[in-house]
Amino acid sequence: MLILVNLKTYAEGTGGGAVRIAELCAEASEETGERIAVAPQAADLYRVSRETDAEVWAQHVDAVEPGSNTGHALPEAVRGAGAVGTLINHSERRLTLADAGGAVEWAREVGLETIVCSNDASTSAAASELEPDYVAIEPPELIGTGIPVSRAEPEIVEGAVAVSDVPVLCGAGISTGEDVEAALSLGAEGVLLASGVVKADEPGEALRDLVSF
Ligand code: G3P
Repeated sequence: MLILVNLKTYAEGTGGGAVRIAELCAEASEETGERIAVAPQAADLYRVSRETDAEVWAQHVDAVEPGSNTGHALPEAVRGAGAVGTLINHSERRLTLADAGGAVEWAREVGLETIVCSNDASTSAAASELEPDYVAIEPPELIGTGIPVSRAEPEIVEGAVAVSDVPVLCGAGISTGEDVEAALSLGAEGVLLASGVVKADEPGEALRDLVSF
């Protein structure tokens, strides 16, 4: 199982910043033996990797080689900053299919694991064709609502699982162990989440609850 906590641009976060939440992810992972990783903003990747024991992922990379590309996230640089994997095509950072495919290729080339995000069964099938390590199904309308996709719209998760040749994660509104358990029962192999941890009064407790079932 993979649990990826996406810090998005929740600035310093209510739990004391990216480093603090990453430390809590590392502690929860160590305590529970589950794979709990964190995806800070690009500007925080190096610091979070250097200052914590957390497994660190990027939120995005571009399909570019070293060279004349201004304002892009170079997969090599992301890897060099300490990330072990990257999200691609998050619904808050959409790419064309061609660019998502290029990003998967370049990320793989430099040794980054990849999660390609999708919003329904047909985009999940297309995402799976790109041969990432995971496809993540996230209906945009449930993101940040606290309404868990795994319990409110289980058919969306099942649909993605049915069409994907790679392991599926699900996200949107996930915040409790019951939500994670429901996701696994639908065939998902983990979850992506943000607000359920970042906006929790006690992010450490929220993390432990995710694997409490
Ligand atoms: O990448 C995770 C995400 O989009 C879900 O956000 O706040 O609903 O957990 P949230």
